[in-house]
Order: sequence, then structure tokens, then C-alpha cells
Amino acid sequence: MNNKVKYLAIGLLASTTAMAQKPVYKEQYRPQIHFSPPAHWMNDPNGLLYYKGTYHLFYQYYPKASVWGPMHWGHATSSDMIHWKNQPVALYPDSLGLIFSGSAVVDFNNTSGLGKNGQPPLVAIFTHHDQTKEKDGKNDTENESIAYSNDDGKTWHKYAHNPVLKNPGIFDFRDPNVVWYTPEKKWVMSLATKDRITFYSSPNLKEWKKESEFGEHLGAHGGVWECPTLFPITATDGKKLWVLIVNINPGGPSGGSATQYFVGNFNGKIFKALNNDTRWIDSGTDEYAGVTFHNTGDRNIFFGWMSNWEYATTVPTEVWRSANTVPRELKLVNIDHNYYVTSEPVKELNSLKTGSIDLRTINIKGEKALTRLIKHLDNQYELTFSSKQLKSFSITLSNKGGEQLIVGFDVAENSWYIAIVPMRVCLALIRVLQSAWSPGVSQMSQVLM
Ligand code: FRU
Repeated sequence: MNNKVKYLAIGLLASTTAMAQKPVYKEQYRPQIHFSPPAHWMNDPNGLLYYKGTYHLFYQYYPKASVWGPMHWGHATSSDMIHWKNQPVALYPDSLGLIFSGSAVVDFNNTSGLGKNGQPPLVAIFTHHDQTKEKDGKNDTENESIAYSNDDGKTWHKYAHNPVLKNPGIFDFRDPNVVWYTPEKKWVMSLATKDRITFYSSPNLKEWKKESEFGEHLGAHGGVWECPTLFPITATDGKKLWVLIVNINPGGPSGGSATQYFVGNFNGKIFKALNNDTRWIDSGTDEYAGVTFHNTGDRNIFFGWMSNWEYATTVPTEVWRSANTVPRELKLVNIDHNYYVTSEPVKELNSLKTGSIDLRTINIKGEKALTRLIKHLDNQYELTFSSKQLKSFSITLSNKGGEQLIVGFDVAENSWYIAIVPMRVCLALIRVLQSAWSPGVSQMSQVLM
């Protein structure tokens, strides 16, 4: 690994922090920090829930192959969102259909009556997708159902009278996400219904009433709306608002699937957005179906699928396919009277840090190789630096094969960028650029920005 800082013709105060995690998996490309399933196909995170000190991650899972197939809910648990323990599959397809995406809640007041021995049940709310109806060209293919657990999420039972919300004739009618609306002591479901979100409410998670629709003429509409999540949030200036996250496929800002959001007010029936512009959680391509954990108090913790429907099935892994983003904490900040969602890796990731190396002040003019300043490059590092003056710069990580990962900041655009340069592109670019201007490597990364 060879890392170089470019374009920073000023002093730089840098320190690196090593991140340690015992390797768990040995396969090529297998992430060691990001969650990935033990084997086979995974897509959306589902039923994100915190209860009694345990984070539950369920996920769209096909346990027989490394491509999408009849969906189950896979399951993993963690005490810190960083170290995950694989659990048995939680929900299997049944006569009502495949188990598509959804959410999970703690029914603290036992409104559903599904609790046992005075203990609140955990209730999962998900879409049953009937492939037979789909093949027959029917519109009522997707219906909402529930399942419950009386042993803190270890085992799950489907409710005997599923579905609890029947399809009114809309082909895309899925991904229920449920939140407790305290002022009226009722449950509110956000449901993706083709090109809008439909809100339903319920006193008991079993009977649902339509409240309103949102978004037909707002936000991005380059694809179908999927996987919503609605949650209250207190902005950093103290203002109490709601955030509605809506995933969309395709139509993302960099192609394929992506996550947009709206900031607004919700009165238990209607969501009114404050912003008319389209806002994205990420500008890049590798986060989709991101939703937030339930029952995490004031923290809004977001987890996404680190892939994109444009290429998810063809990424070069075999034993397993797909990983999640690292969990991130979402905050709401007021910038020039507009509220924006910020997202930052959760502080729990700091527990992986094992030490730091202070590189002190380095003066960089043009380009500098940092590699020899760090003794053991067989680890993962976090590079922190500050400079007196903000200038455009980029950091290049490269290997002996000539592949490069470039991360940089462009002052003129006031934005960060990231570029991956496979070896064949590097070689081709070097050839083109050599004949044109006999360039330095820095010009190459500019070209790729
Ligand atoms: C989003 C999605 C959801 C659906 C699930 C099926 O990635 O298409 O809308 O419930 O995946 O696996």
C-alpha cells in the first residue's frame, strides 16, 4: 500500500490511527468491519431494532445462492453494531409469499396482545410478496403481514391472521416501516406505494387505517419508491422536526439506486416537507435501502446496503454477496435557515482503534509519499489532518498492481470526491496523458475527478 498526499502546497499536521479487528473471514474481498452474511445473497437491512442491550439486524436473504432468490429474513445480533453474531434465519417464505423488506418494533404496551408472561413482544412488520400472483399478472401481489417474538428476538412466529394490510390494487405496495406516534398513542406505518409514500395508522399493529399520501410531485422520481422510514428528530439548534427517508431505484444522483430524504413536520396523519429540492443521504453509488434503528432513544442510527441494483448481482464474490455500510448517526443541522441531514460513522467504531502515530507538520509542495512515515502498513488506518488554509488536495492509495483509490477535496466545487482507478484504466490514461502533456500523476487524478 502506498499513500500519497497531493496538491497541498502548505504545512499539514497529520496523525494516523491504526484500526484493529481480528480477521473473521478469509475470502478475497471479504470486508472485516462492514457486516456481510456468512454465505450467499443479502440485500436490504430489515427490522433494525435495539432491545435490552442488543442491536438486531435482519436482512433480505437468499440462503441457497449468491444471487437474489426467494427472500427470507436473515438475522445477526450485536452489542455495539461493530461485532456481529450470526443467528438462525428469522423468517421463511410461506403460502402467502416471499418475505420482503420491513421493520420491527418493541410493543412496550402490548397493544397487539401478542406479548407473553407480562413481557412486551417484538413485532416485525413486513411485505408478503406472492410470486404466483406476480406471474399471473395480478396487481395485489404485495400485502403487509406481521410476525412476533416472545424470547427477545431469538425465534419468530407469523401472526395467524396475516396479512394485516391488504393490497388495494397497487403493484408496488411494500416495505412497511412503523414508528410509535406518542402524542396520539398509535402506530404509524410509512409504506412505499409506487411513486409516493402512503401513511397508515393503527392502535394495535393489526388493523390499519389510511391517513394520507406524500410525494407524488416532490423529490426524485427516476425510479420506483422503496424502503421508507419516518422518524422524529431534534435538530442541533433544538428545533423538533421529522425526517422521511425514501429509497429510490433507479434514479440516484450517480446512477442506479440511492437514498433521498425530506425534512418536515408530521402531525400523526400528514407529513409536510419544508424542502422542495431533492436531497440525498449519499451522492455516491454504494448505499441503498438505508433505514434507521428503532428504540435507540435520541440517536438516529442509519444502516444501508453497501451496493446498488445496477451491479449488485455481478460484484466478483462467490461465497457471499454484499455487505452493509458501517452504521452512521444521522443529525439535523440548520444551515442558512435550511435543515439538512448529516451522517457520520457511529462513535462505536472508535473501539477498533489501537493506537496512533503523530506525523507532525509536513510541508507538501506538489506530491509527497507518506508510506515510509508509517512503519507497518499491514493494518487499517484513519488519517486525520488539519491545515491552516483550505486548498484542493487528494490522497492516493495504490498497490503494486497499479490500482488506485483516490480521495480528494475540490475547493472550487466545495465537495469531496472519491475515484477508483483499476489498473487497465491507469495504464490507458498514462499512455494518453504521456502523449499529450507528459503529465505527473496529479493531473491524472484531476482528469478522473
Ligand atoms: C429494495 C427491494 C425492496 C423489496 C426487497 C426485495 O432493494 O426491492 O423494495 O422489499 O428489495 O428483496
